Amino acid sequence: MSPHILVTGGAGFIGSHTCVALAAAGYTPLIFDNFCNADPRVVERLETIIGNKPVAIQGDVRSRADLDRVFEQYRVQGVIHFAGLKAVGDSVADPLGYYDNNVAGSVVLAQAMLAAGVDTLVFSSSATVYGDPDQSPVPESAACRPANPYGRTKRMVEEILSDLHHANPSWRISVLRYFNPVGAHESGLIGEHPRGKPNNLMPFVSQVAVGLRDKLAVHGGDYPTPDGTGVRDYVHVMDLAEGHVAALRHSERQPGIVTLNLGTGQGASVLDVIKSFERASGKSIAHEIGPRRPGDVAANWADPTLATATLGWRATRTLDQMCADSWRWQQANPNGYEPSAAR
Ligand code: WQD
Repeated sequence: MSPHILVTGGAGFIGSHTCVALAAAGYTPLIFDNFCNADPRVVERLETIIGNKPVAIQGDVRSRADLDRVFEQYRVQGVIHFAGLKAVGDSVADPLGYYDNNVAGSVVLAQAMLAAGVDTLVFSSSATVYGDPDQSPVPESAACRPANPYGRTKRMVEEILSDLHHANPSWRISVLRYFNPVGAHESGLIGEHPRGKPNNLMPFVSQVAVGLRDKLAVHGGDYPTPDGTGVRDYVHVMDLAEGHVAALRHSERQPGIVTLNLGTGQGASVLDVIKSFERASGKSIAHEIGPRRPGDVAANWADPTLATATLGWRATRTLDQMCADSWRWQQANPNGYEPSAAR
C-alpha cells in the first residue's frame, strides 16, 4: 500500500490539485476537510483524474477527536496542511475566526501528530507574511511584516513550527510561502470557484470572460510599475502542487525545517493578465481602471532560487498556460462544481 498523506483542506483549490500530484507521485492522499469553503463534488472529479476515488473524511482541524480518529484508522506517513481561512479582507473583519481556524487549528493538528508519532509536515504559508517588501524579487530572508490578520496567522504558525522543531529535532517540516496561485488542472475538471464575488484577480477575470461578471475593476493605474497596474508573481496551481510533492520527498531524506518561496520569479501586471486571458479565451475582458485597493502593494514577486536549490523544484508553466487552463475550467464549469444549468 502506498504511503498515506493526510491532506487537510484537501477538497480546496490548492489541496485538490495537490492530491492529483501526490497520486501521480505514488502517494495515497487522504482528504480531510470541513467543507466550509470546498465542494464535496470535487472528490468525484478527482476520481476521474486519478483513476480511483480518494478517501474523503469530513472533519475539522480544530477537533482533536476528529484528528485522533484519522490517525487511529490510517497509517499516515505525513501531513500537508492547507486547512484554513485565506481571505485578507475577511480576516480584518473577523480576526478571532482567523486566529481560531488558522492558528489554533494548526496547534491542535501538531498535537495530534505528536501523539500519533507522525513527524512529517508540509505547511501552506503565504507571501503575505512579507507584507510590503522592501524590494522584489523577495528572498526568504526578507523581513516578515504581515499587514493583516490573515498574514499574521501564517507568520504565527511559521514561528510555532520553528519552536516545535527546536523541541523535536527529528521532525521534518517544510514551510511553503506561495505567491499568487492561479490556473487549473489541464483536464478542466477541477479549478477555482470562490463563493460569491471573487476577491482575487484571476477568478474575477475568468468570470468576466464567461459572462458571469460584466466588468473588471482594475485596482489602481498609478503604481510605480511599467504600466501603472499592480505586479504579482502568478504561479500555476499544478506547479505549486508539484512543489509540495518535492517538499515531501525532501523531508523523506532528512529531518529539519525549511522555509521556501514558491513562485515563478517573474512579475506580471494586471494588464498583462488581462491580455494573456484575452489570448487564451478569445474574449475581450471589459475593464476599467479605478482607485487603488487599500492594503495593496505596488509589486512583489518571488526569488525562488532557494526552493530550486533545496527541492530541485522550479515553476515551469507560463502565464499563458495559467490563463488557458483557467479558461478551460471556467468554460466547462461556469457554476463551479454546481451542475451547469441546461443551456
Ligand atoms: C492581484 C492583483 C490587485 C482583483 C491575495 C492575498 C494573498 C494570497 C493571494 C492567500 C493586485 C489586482 C485584484 C480585482 C484588481 N492569498 N486586482 N481587480 O492581493 O496579490 O494576494 O491573493 O495566501 O494572501 O493577499 O492577489 O488576486 O487579490 O490581486 O485589479 O478585482 O490584481 O490590485 O494588483 P493579492 P489578488
